[in-house]
Amino acid sequence: MVFTVIIAHPERCRKLAAEKRIFEDMYDNGCLMQIDAASIIGVNGWGARLFAKEIIRSHKAAFVASDAHDPEDYSKYYVEAYKRVQKWVGRDAAEGLFGKNAQKIIECISGCIENVTATP
Ligand SMILES: [Fe+2]
Repeated sequence: MVFTVIIAHPERCRKLAAEKRIFEDMYDNGCLMQIDAASIIGVNGWGARLFAKEIIRSHKAAFVASDAHDPEDYSKYYVEAYKRVQKWVGRDAAEGLFGKNAQKIIECISGCIENVTATP
């Protein structure tokens, strides 16, 4: 059995922002990075926004998610975050980050994980 680890909102972890080699080690070892949509628009602070942008622009993010601890999280930040990401990396990569990559996980749990990456 193979496991793939998905790191939820690494951009919000100060330790990872301060010591990028830890982030890079996780990425290089196959962890998939999921960015919180709220971070993209600055809700989680300037540092999280900068790190989110860096991860996305370096094409090391696999997903953008709502971090839905509250039903409002789904709608509150998503559209603005999508527009921002589209400016950073283009429409194709944004579509991957906001849906297509997650859809790949759902459709082929056993066979497609290695194919889930942001489109450069
Ligand atoms: Fe969370």
